[in-house]
Amino acid sequence: MIYLDAAATSFQKPVTVRRAVLDAMTRMTSPGRGSHPTASRAAACVYACRDRAAHFFGVAEPQNVVFTFNATHALNIAIRTLVSPWDNVVISGYEHNAVTRPLAALGAKVRVASGRLFDQESVLEDFRRLLPGAKCAVCTHVSNVFGFVLPIREIAALCRERGVPLIVDASQSAGVLDLDFSDLGAAFVAMPGHKGLLGPQGTGLLLCGGSAEPILFGGTGSQSIDQTMPEDLPDRLEAGTHNVPGIAGLGEGIRYVAPRMTAIRAQERALTALLAERLRGCEDLELFYAGGETQTGVLSVRSARHNCETLAEELAQNGVAVRAGLHCAPFAHRSAGTLETGTVRLSLSPFTTQRETERAAEILCRLVRA
Ligand code: ALA
Repeated sequence: MIYLDAAATSFQKPVTVRRAVLDAMTRMTSPGRGSHPTASRAAACVYACRDRAAHFFGVAEPQNVVFTFNATHALNIAIRTLVSPWDNVVISGYEHNAVTRPLAALGAKVRVASGRLFDQESVLEDFRRLLPGAKCAVCTHVSNVFGFVLPIREIAALCRERGVPLIVDASQSAGVLDLDFSDLGAAFVAMPGHKGLLGPQGTGLLLCGGSAEPILFGGTGSQSIDQTMPEDLPDRLEAGTHNVPGIAGLGEGIRYVAPRMTAIRAQERALTALLAERLRGCEDLELFYAGGETQTGVLSVRSARHNCETLAEELAQNGVAVRAGLHCAPFAHRSAGTLETGTVRLSLSPFTTQRETERAAEILCRLVRA
């Protein structure tokens, strides 16, 4: 199989990740639940991952790195902390349902800084126009549908100037683009562990600029006499038993990615350029490609003559794994003008090869021409 669905979940993982998961399942239980060896090993492993993530993402205090089950969980905590019903919230036009559904559930008044696809300046201009009076802003770093890199540093600077707290969804950028939490000055950054960080599913991180409101209540192994959640991070947000095998794997994923990130990014961009070049020769296929610094290793395409889901099914039958449709991101499709059709998304990982890229382009062209 040629796996081009890394924007959903990275499939190939470093061997060290798999070993760490197995080691945790074999030798560890839960942190903070005892001083016996299995609990102590779990505590050391969880702390090591927290510390590594703090260094990698420029978080001054490791306790401000909170483990979650995924990016959606992390975004829900951040949004519930900063947004109340009827608040004005500015979001980019490229947000995922992981952002827009929690805002809708809260009854927030959402204003969309849509901008034009691959036009960073237009997104920035829309944020500049809409930020006055906003209670909070939420912005994805990279669109999960188009790989469009939003000007997050500039948006963060605007939010700081206007005193509007910013939540960043780093689901598609963590492990791919530089992300320094202290530099950014965001209130929260949310990310999954199972995409660019190459960790297992069921892991995520919330980087916190300050305290936050829990959405899960329960045991933390600390201050057990109190019937309110502890005030201190990370315990305040980490009720219940940790996903220790997942966190062990995530720690190894970050260890693998950290020294290689620049090379990974360059390779993914080069192969995406190759994919686009090969697909350009395929008449009847519309490509959403800008390349350069404004796009990561994610390429959406569509064909006027083929339904996207059908094309994705045919690709799967021919050994190419992609995702088609709206990708849980109707706002992004609305901004790009693809809401009616959706797109077929091909997304690369550090393990995608040139041969696989060329072969996938060849198969897609053949199917579109058929
Ligand atoms: N958000 C993930 C995707 O884009 C699941 O496929």
